[in-house]
Parts: sequence; structure tokens; C-alpha cells
Amino acid sequence: MKDLLKFLTCGNVDDGKSTLIGHLLYDTKQLYADQRQALELDSRVGSAGGQIDYSLLLDGLMSEREQGITIDVAYRYFKTEVRSYIVADAPGHEEYTRNMAVAASFAQLAIILIDASKGVQIQTRRHLRICYLMGIRDVVFAINKMDMVGYDRQRYKEIENTIYEMTDSFSLNSLTIIPVSATAGDNITEHSDQMPWYKGLSLLEYLDQVEILSDGTQTDFTMPVQRVCRPNSGFRGFQGQIESGSISVGDEVRSLPSGESAVVTGILTGFDSVEHAITGQPVTLQLNREIDISRGCVLVTGKGHPISESFMVTLLWMDESPLVPGVNYILKLGTKMTNVTVMEIQYKIDVHSGRHVPADRLYKNEIGVCSILSSDKIILDTFDNCQPLGGLILIDQVTNRTCAGGTVKSIMAGSGDLFWHNFDLTRDIRARNMGQKPLTIWFTGLSGSGKSTLANALEKRLYAMGKHTMVLDGDNVRLGLNRDLGFSEEDRIENIRRIAQVAKLMNDAGLIVLTAFISPFHRDRENARNIIGSSFIEVYVSTPLEECENRDTKELYKKARMGQIHDFTGVSSPYEIPVSPEITVDTTERSIDACVANILDKLSSFL
Ligand code: ADX
Repeated sequence: MKDLLKFLTCGNVDDGKSTLIGHLLYDTKQLYADQRQALELDSRVGSAGGQIDYSLLLDGLMSEREQGITIDVAYRYFKTEVRSYIVADAPGHEEYTRNMAVAASFAQLAIILIDASKGVQIQTRRHLRICYLMGIRDVVFAINKMDMVGYDRQRYKEIENTIYEMTDSFSLNSLTIIPVSATAGDNITEHSDQMPWYKGLSLLEYLDQVEILSDGTQTDFTMPVQRVCRPNSGFRGFQGQIESGSISVGDEVRSLPSGESAVVTGILTGFDSVEHAITGQPVTLQLNREIDISRGCVLVTGKGHPISESFMVTLLWMDESPLVPGVNYILKLGTKMTNVTVMEIQYKIDVHSGRHVPADRLYKNEIGVCSILSSDKIILDTFDNCQPLGGLILIDQVTNRTCAGGTVKSIMAGSGDLFWHNFDLTRDIRARNMGQKPLTIWFTGLSGSGKSTLANALEKRLYAMGKHTMVLDGDNVRLGLNRDLGFSEEDRIENIRRIAQVAKLMNDAGLIVLTAFISPFHRDRENARNIIGSSFIEVYVSTPLEECENRDTKELYKKARMGQIHDFTGVSSPYEIPVSPEITVDTTERSIDACVANILDKLSSFL
């Protein structure tokens, strides 16, 4: 018996994907008697004119049946005398790209369906690119509905040529093209008499014999540590799945990133002690000495993997809101989770032509190449070199949604050449000398809400209390440090990022910083909070828009209403109200002094 094969099928709504899988299940006799009867009955009343409609087998969900489309990933199991299979049936429509990416990340091989009467379509190119991005290097193109084109060899040849052109720039391990009819059954499980000109194998014969090359070129041992297991003081084991190579008792392993070595004294698979374990096995390793290992570390033999915080990735963006450079995300790579910033979108890839197109955003279902900066060093590799350490997802910090899947394209040289230097005079020493706790009091609110006025008044009170302070104000900073920035979403993100970095430096110098920036986006404020850390205090100046507009001290609302200023917060650009600010003040009903007294009162526990 050969090993298990996991594959997915991709195709457009009417390309016959479900019919194809249904036919495979039917022919390989994977159905229970009642399923078979139900299928025959359903088909009689359905649209297939009395013939068996194999797609009904796959469309488990009512809504799928009603709409005639498949909307979720369905996993099916079947086996032949040669091997067992898991097939993921993912919807093909662009809207469901996320589902296809999920199915592709699980699969080793893809069957991409092409309707012989329509030929290669934009969707076909998209399916190929997503499969490739998700690591699939073995592809079968099933040219379906050959019965509809009279089993015409010429038509097949035309499509074959387009496929060769389309796949030219991809480095696939195997590319196979099979003319089939999923409904009539030609070349599905047996060689068809209708197409004597096709000398190759039927689809199932092909699947039965295909060999998938093991992941990447890595043969050295690699195991990302998933868990440190310490049931009692006498036992310490490191658990994870072996992603490449093999390991034996007596081998020396290194732990990354520390680089420390130890010798393997025991290997457990489940509860069984073994001498040797290979790629794909989940194991617990025991070592001869205590070295620094925790979740996210990687145990290796041989030359190991790069350690870096700066790298390029190819991303498939899956979130409703577009990717805008400068925003922080949680990166999950191997067993490691860490904070990263997407620094720049280098280009996006036109799925049709493969061309690189300049882009400042990446919208849902688009693929692009971006540079990423991580908050700490991670062990990673290019996807081509080591799939488990080169595949990643990005998670939105606020919504917790997975917003992108992707692969590491390259690791920036030089990023490993920058090292944080610790100075002897620390923030704590400086702050103690000043007799205060460094804080960043972050005022946020609409233009005209009173942020700068409050910051000014509060700073005077703090100064009178002997505190060392500094104010960073929107207009002022924009006249200097940030004079190159405007009010687009990207520029506002960069504005806030720079301010947060400056505030942090000032906190490191021991100062109490007061900032007055609209900072209209929740995500940017969270970004600032992440950069600044526990000394960040968000003060929401909740003065309503009508009141700010009434004041209109700078006459900017008037201009914005007349269309003379674009992207004006509250008028033509949104303000996202803080979800849980430490302090909220409204300047409408109270004097500035009363507001400041209120803020000071609430600050007392922080000062
Ligand atoms: S932020 O959105 O990036 O946080 P910031 O606080 O730095 O804005 O700058 C806001 C100030 O810039 C406003 O108080 C106003 O004086 C001025 N300004 C000029 N154009 C705009 C605009 N389109 N939107 C908001 N503020 C603007």
C-alpha cells in the first residue's frame, strides 16, 4: 500500500468539480447502500435527465444545493487498492479564495479543472497561483467536458498549449494534463475508448501512482518546539513534529536561536520509547543537559536555519479591510507567534499575466510581495528551502481574524547585522533621578476637540508638581519631523508610528510625554500602545463633532465642508471612537481647569 495522498480540486462553478469527485467515489465503491440509493433517487428528480448526478454526493449543504454552488471546503476520504486519499473540495469563485487557500495549504497535489468548451480562464490562472503560493508543486489539469466538444483532439491540443504557456514561470515538480468527462466517466477511473489519441493514464490511475517529492531540499533534522513537557521534576521533554530529516538517540542537536547543543538521550512516540524517528512523526525528545528551550525554538542538526527580523513574503490578502503598510499584525510561523509590522508593499501580482504591479494597498484576494519587520528575531527559512519554517499567517491584533496566508520569499541580508545595544544608564535610573514615572498621556479626539489645550493646561499642572514633561502636538510635529506626511490613511499610520517611537524615546529619557494627535484609527492607537508599552495612557477627548465644528477655530471644518480640504476627520474621513480608553473627557460642559483636575485625579494611580 502506498502512502496517503491529500489533494484538492479547483474549478469554476460549472466546471464539474463535484461531479468529478462524486464519480471517483462512486466508481471506487466508497458509498453506503443507502447513499447510493438516495443518489439514484435524487438524480431522477433533479436536472440530470435521469442520469446519475454525481455532484449531489458532494453538495451536503442545503444552501449549496439551492444555489448550485459549493461554498465551504468539504473533505472526503476514499481508497483504492493502491492508496488512500483525502480530497478537499473547495469552491472556485474568487469570493471564496480564503477557502481555497485553506484547502491548498492542506493538500500535496491539485487537480485544476478546465471546461473544454471554455478553455483556460482567468480563474484557472488564479487557482494555479493560489495553489502554488500555498506550496503545491504537483498539478493535474483535468480538461473536463470533452464529450461536449466531441472528444476533439485539436481542442485538447489548444488548451494543452495554453497550459504550457501559463505554467512556464512556475517551477512545478510535476505537470499532468488529462482529457476527461466527469459526467460520462471518460478517463476518470478507466482509460476511455472515446479518445484513443490520448495515450496517458486515467485520472485515478495517475493518482494511484504519483510520487510526491518530500518538502523542500532540507534533509537535516528540523523540529520546531511546540511544547516543553514537565510532568514531574525528573522528566523534561521537548515535543513537536519532525519537519525534516530524522533523529536517533545519541545524536547531537542544537537549539535555535540560542545555538546551544545537547545530546538526545531518549525519543518517545506517544508512550513508546524508540531509538529513531523520521520526518512527519510527532515526538518527545529528552536531552542530556539543560539548555534554553521554549515553545517557538527550533531543534536542528546540520547548518540550521536563518535567524532574522526582516524578510520578504508573498501574501494572499484575505481580509475585508485592505492591507496598509505600517500596521502591526501577529505573525504565526512554525510554532512561533510574534508581533510584526508590514513595512512596504513591494508590488502586487496580476493573477492573469503574472506581471508585477506597483501598489500601496493589498485588497481582499490580491497577492502581493511585502517586506516585514518583526519585533524580535525569529527562526525562519525560505519556503522553497523548508516549507514548515517558510509558511506563515498574519492575524489582525484587534479582530483576531486571520487576514493573510503566505510564504517567505527571501530573508534580508544585513538585518542580522543590527544589534540592540544596552546602555548602563537605563530608563529606570534616569526616571528615578527625576523622581517620576515616565508616562505617555495620549490625547485622541477630533480636530478642535481640545486636545492641545488640555495637553497645555495639564503640562503646566505637572510642571508645577515638579514633573519633567514634553508635549508633542499634531500641527507642530507636522511642521517639522513629519512635514513629508499628509492625511491619507498611509500617512496617518506613519505619522502615529513616528510619534509613538519619539514618545517612547522620551519615556526612555525619563520624561512624561503628552501627545495631542487626532489619531483617528483604532489600529494606529493600538500600534502606539504596542510600541510604547505599559506607560501608555489613552485619553479620549470626546467633544462631539457638532461642538468641534461650532468652534472651528482654524476654519478647517468650513473648508472641509466646501471640499477645499480632503480626507478631513469627521467630515470626509472617519474617526473611530476608542473602545476602552483609560480616561475620557468631554470639554463641552466643563471648563478646561475642571477637565484637567479630573484627568489628574484619574492619573494619580499612574504617577
Ligand atoms: S492625525 O490624524 O494624523 O493624527 P494630526 O493630529 O497629526 O492628525 O494632525 C491634525 C491637524 O492637522 C488638525 O488639527 C488640523 O489642524 C490639521 N489638518 C489639516 N488637514 C487635515 C485633515 N485633512 N484632517 C485632519 N486634520 C487636518
